[in-house]
Amino acid sequence: MILSKKLSEAFNAQVNAEMWSSNLYLSMSVHFQKLGLNGFAHWMKKQAEEEMEHAHKMIDFAIDRGGDITIGQINVVPTAWGSVTELFEHVYKHECYVSELIDKMVDIAEEEKDHASRDFLFWFVREQVEEEATAQGIVDKIKKAGDTGIFFVDSQLGQR
Ligand code: FEO
Repeated sequence: MILSKKLSEAFNAQVNAEMWSSNLYLSMSVHFQKLGLNGFAHWMKKQAEEEMEHAHKMIDFAIDRGGDITIGQINVVPTAWGSVTELFEHVYKHECYVSELIDKMVDIAEEEKDHASRDFLFWFVREQVEEEATAQGIVDKIKKAGDTGIFFVDSQLGQR
């Protein structure tokens, strides 16, 4: 079954969103590097790589199914944040937003009766559960650590 035009456009948009997410986390990594928080910087770099893998996963599937994928312009990402807590709260909110995008793709796959796409997208549905929980877990950890414990969390995240 060839991807419908609507679904192909949705994959295209999501590839762009995953690449934007990758740049967002790379920007956060650079931010932490400048602050000398190298553990957080490392974690964010890995996160940026993971988002790029998500983009590749979507590209590979969409092309295998005859979709029309084009790599478009990636909008600029933020470069400055407040506290470390605020930054990770931003990550959590962003992941919730990505979950909504994935859910909408599942809705389209269901409307189009494209079972293969629906099955493929469920991997992302599960991934988003993990992404949200991880981000929320880090927010909780940072809050508990307070100012004095931040370097401990930094070294923990550096082990990713
Ligand atoms: Fe690819 Fe973090 O969602």
